[in-house]
Amino acid sequence: MSVKEEKKNPVETAVKEKEQVAAKLIPIYIMGKRYEVPEGLTIMKAMEYAGYILVRGCGCRGGTCGACGTFYRKPGDYKLQVALACQKTVEPDMYIAQIPFFPANRALYDFTKLTAAPEEVFKLYPELFRCVACNSCTKACPQGIEVMDAISALKQGNIAEAAQLSFDCIQCGLCTSRCFGELAQYHMFQLARRIYGAGIVPRAEHLAEMVKAVNGGKYDRFLDVLKRVKEDELKKLYQEREVEPMVAGEDWKPEDTTYL
Ligand code: FES
Repeated sequence: MSVKEEKKNPVETAVKEKEQVAAKLIPIYIMGKRYEVPEGLTIMKAMEYAGYILVRGCGCRGGTCGACGTFYRKPGDYKLQVALACQKTVEPDMYIAQIPFFPANRALYDFTKLTAAPEEVFKLYPELFRCVACNSCTKACPQGIEVMDAISALKQGNIAEAAQLSFDCIQCGLCTSRCFGELAQYHMFQLARRIYGAGIVPRAEHLAEMVKAVNGGKYDRFLDVLKRVKEDELKKLYQEREVEPMVAGEDWKPEDTTYL
């Protein structure tokens, strides 16, 4: 755990005292120590309120980077719960321990030498077959991914299915922390998505054409013109540019086709 307690700052203490008037305080336990924090805060904000400086285990604060995997337990409940600290709000008497990093097995490979054959995954992660189908991984996933189903797909050699099922994985590692078979599901899924993207999903022809056009200098003179435009004018151009609508047909084109 890469957190440490901050020295008390008199100004912050005064601010906190003021906030206490407005917000109801509830007791929580961070690393076994009792604190009173305003209700409604996320675990991450409650830890900061309590004086912790998060130097690891804190990234996007928006539920997408997976850096803030956290365990907690509530009194009277034997069950250990998992959550993202930046998303889960505190509840009275929660016992909280954050796990900013989980030491899971991550295979090393030269991706350029891999094929799209299922055996590539089997060779790099033979422990895949230690899965006992207990489904603890699925229950631990804060993203609601059907983790065990994706592992089953990998065991059956269906990399595409595993890649699609795990698309929302944010690599928090909470699945792995609960796995009886000691699988690093999230690393296996990352490999599956890489193989899927590079060797299974059909190539985007239009993208290849566009890259060719860019490399062939088709847009060089437009870029030269833009480079000479003053910053204010550039901002205006950017703000007033024609944007593709959220729902647009395959044949959508801007009215001004100068740059196509
Ligand atoms: S800080 Fe990124 S998911 Fe919580």
